Amino acid sequence: MAIFLFLLVSLCIQCYEVNGGRIHHQSKQQLQLHDYQNFQPSIDDSFDCVDMYNQPAFQHPVLKNHKIQLFPTFLRTTMQNRSSSFSKAVKYQNFIRECPPRKVPILKTTTRQKMVTKSSSKSQLDGFNEYSESNPGHHFATLETTQDMMFRGGSARIGTYNLSLQENQYNIPGIWIQSGPPTELNSIQVGTGVHPSLYGDHQIRVTAYWTADGYHKTGCYNYQCPGFVQVHRGAGFEGVLLHSSEIGTLHKFSWIVKVKQDKVTGNWWCIGGEDLVALGYWPKEIFTHLRQGSSLIKYGGETFAPPNMISPPMGSGRLPKELFKNSCFISNLEIVDSNYNEVKVKPKDMKSNCDTTPNCYDVLYRGYEGSLYRQAFLFGGPGGKCGI
Ligand SMILES: *[C@@H]1O[C@H](CO)[C@@H](O)[C@H](O)[C@H]1NC(C)=O
Ligand SMILES: *[C@@H]1O[C@H](CO)[C@@H](O)[C@H](O)[C@H]1NC(C)=O
Repeated sequence: MAIFLFLLVSLCIQCYEVNGGRIHHQSKQQLQLHDYQNFQPSIDDSFDCVDMYNQPAFQHPVLKNHKIQLFPTFLRTTMQNRSSSFSKAVKYQNFIRECPPRKVPILKTTTRQKMVTKSSSKSQLDGFNEYSESNPGHHFATLETTQDMMFRGGSARIGTYNLSLQENQYNIPGIWIQSGPPTELNSIQVGTGVHPSLYGDHQIRVTAYWTADGYHKTGCYNYQCPGFVQVHRGAGFEGVLLHSSEIGTLHKFSWIVKVKQDKVTGNWWCIGGEDLVALGYWPKEIFTHLRQGSSLIKYGGETFAPPNMISPPMGSGRLPKELFKNSCFISNLEIVDSNYNEVKVKPKDMKSNCDTTPNCYDVLYRGYEGSLYRQAFLFGGPGGKCGI
């Protein structure tokens, strides 16, 4: 399952070192080379380059005559040249990690079947379904907007930690863009997940989910059902993040995600990585409420374990009271306001929300973290008997 996301990954990881008050920001170039040197190729035969118009999204009944939007109107000046920087990085290692023009990388059916049969229960596959009352086994710790307004998106930098999970557990820190009452909930979620039953491994992968009816009949992870239109030739969901942060240091790795509605077309774009690469979009037609914008943006963590079992660790596995050195962070918190402006969140407009006792998972929002990150918070914890 390889995926083309290697690419994404190397571009998305940024490393800040905070040393005696001095901040060193390693150049992206250095990091790229470093990442590629660390990267083990093992996936070349797990995806095909298919014609853009033959991708799974077009099996969705409302997308039969959909015309692909090749790049977001808000990134018009930069998108088309993204792939050339990818190609350069890729050539460095002599790997072909990008499809030819007009084609997009799609997992081979055989790979997908393997993935799906590994998923043992439906609730395990109800991705990012944070409603734990109706979905026992799910838990969340989030920071959420409280304003009564129409958002056009949100973005954040998500700290990445590699948690050791059991096969039937998952941990996905990320961002939620939502609208509508619970039974009709429209939701888009993107994060960096460890999800063994979905992926068949324990790597940290870019993971997305959408639903248009409160997780009932519509929606799925990544490309598992028609919906998301992949546009980028080399970067997409399911890609592996190559570096994780360590507990006990100030040296952290992270991944940037932005989900933003296009003012002109109404489609919801997913943008990822330091270079803000546009991966593709969820067409507005597949939604009922999100077509008109989003009423709620959330940032935080979600975990799952089968009901009545021990909950897995979330974030870094340490509680926020252990502070930035040990606990997982989400920073650079921004919303896209009703006028499509990207603005930092304001502390007075945010509230934390956690469905467990504070010794299990918790949220700590002080406005800053690690001296460097503004509008950031800490979240997570060791898990345990969270809902029993
Ligand atoms: C993209 O790259 C080409 C060739 O390097 C250059 O001529 C063009 O101006 C670039 N386009 C944008 C929008 O940056
Ligand atoms: C995370 O751990 C798994 C094994 O448990 C390993 O395969 C993977 O490469 C690790 N990822 C990172 C980013 O360290």
